[in-house]
Amino acid sequence: MKILFVGDIVGRSGRQILKDAFKNFDLRSKYDFIIVNAENAAGGFGITNKVLEELLQLDIDCFTMGNHTFDKRDGEQVLLHDKVIRPANLPPNVVGSGYGIFNSKLGNVAVINLLGRVFMQPVDCPFRSFDSLFSEIKKECDIVIVDFHAEATSEKNALGCYLDGRASAVVGTHTHVPTADCKILPNKTAYVTDVGMTGSTAGIIGFKKDSIIQKFLTCMPKKFEVEVIDPQLQAVCIDVDERGRAKSIERVFYPDVICSEGETLIND
Ligand SMILES: [Fe+2]
Ligand SMILES: [Fe+2]
Repeated sequence: MKILFVGDIVGRSGRQILKDAFKNFDLRSKYDFIIVNAENAAGGFGITNKVLEELLQLDIDCFTMGNHTFDKRDGEQVLLHDKVIRPANLPPNVVGSGYGIFNSKLGNVAVINLLGRVFMQPVDCPFRSFDSLFSEIKKECDIVIVDFHAEATSEKNALGCYLDGRASAVVGTHTHVPTADCKILPNKTAYVTDVGMTGSTAGIIGFKKDSIIQKFLTCMPKKFEVEVIDPQLQAVCIDVDERGRAKSIERVFYPDVICSEGETLIND
């Protein structure tokens, strides 16, 4: 079974290239199960009900989130939708669920969202959070996909190795930069340190260059705006068998190559 995991959708240009990929690259017929990280879907920060409604038109199976889950006021309401999950290692009693179990042609698929702790806001331990969820999830699912939303490559490497043989795939998100380390670990867990993002490749991690450069130059807070030029969908495709063992993990980019001709899909 082919599972597509799409990196963080950044703002309207990210949503537009995702829609374009569904229409012109025929994502739905190519993949059996589609997961999208939506933590930056609304204006680059968080998600709103309106944006979720827009994304739900695309027949996506599951949305994961990250450190920007609650940036918009609608964040809590969005989490009431059963296709949307938030990081599992937030404190107990936070609204929403840290994992979801969904139907697929090979039976149940569990998707778990976890936050890293290195260079990020303090949260509960992602390693132990997985351990406590896994014993329950394993009763219902052989296919288990983990979105590890984290900054440090070492922490992501470590979780991949820790979950090898238990998760079908551990895919990293959050940095918005795709890494060149797709691999199958010894006990058949697919792994990549970062999927990348879905948005403009012309700016800095999806945002207009100038305000981010100014922030580095001045150390003053700046308002970041979503860039719209040269958008790309960055994803991985994981092929798993019925026992949840990964057979392959491959890069998916749409379009394949960005020619840096300043192409703007939309005016924003
Ligand atoms: Fe993030
Ligand atoms: Fe992100």
